[in-house]
Amino acid sequence: MKNKINTPLILIGFMGTGKTTLGKYIAQNNQLSFVDLDEFIVQQEGKTIPEIFEQLGEKGFRNLEFKYLKKCANQFDVIATGGGIIEGNDAFNLLKEQKHVIWLDCDIEILYDRIKNDSNRPNANNKPFFKLKSLYSTRVSRYNEIAFIKVNSNKSLPVTYNKILETMKANDQY
Ligand code: S3P
Repeated sequence: MKNKINTPLILIGFMGTGKTTLGKYIAQNNQLSFVDLDEFIVQQEGKTIPEIFEQLGEKGFRNLEFKYLKKCANQFDVIATGGGIIEGNDAFNLLKEQKHVIWLDCDIEILYDRIKNDSNRPNANNKPFFKLKSLYSTRVSRYNEIAFIKVNSNKSLPVTYNKILETMKANDQY
């Protein structure tokens, strides 16, 4: 499959920021192809995310993320990544070369409420607020370094989408 647009739109941001929901919305509104990288990994490996973490460790998961990000960047127009994709240097460097990396962000208090009890998220499940906040803080500068646009994802989908479109148009990238 060939990408419909020249370079994919890649959504990054902490767990719970709504990357998948927004990615699907953008893809549907523009007849573009969409992939959720976590779902792709689960399908390809035939294992859940917690199983991969348990069997291969977080390092092993990061290696898979890089492998499948490379593949998906050539196959899909819109990609929702996992919140920790910037942890692995290979994936980070690959994302740094990409033109349309969009960072979704919102208050950590809101994110914490969304993700704290999710057993499918090993890096969030049962973590106290201060630990999640600290993880969030260590990641912010890395999201910031590679993002072309930062958007507040606590707005409605159309508002978030329009903000992205406006910024891209203003930069002649759409
Ligand atoms: C992770 C985020 C998850 C998933 C995995 C690790 C992280 O993706 O990739 O559980 O370390 O932040 P979401 O951001 O879609 O929850």
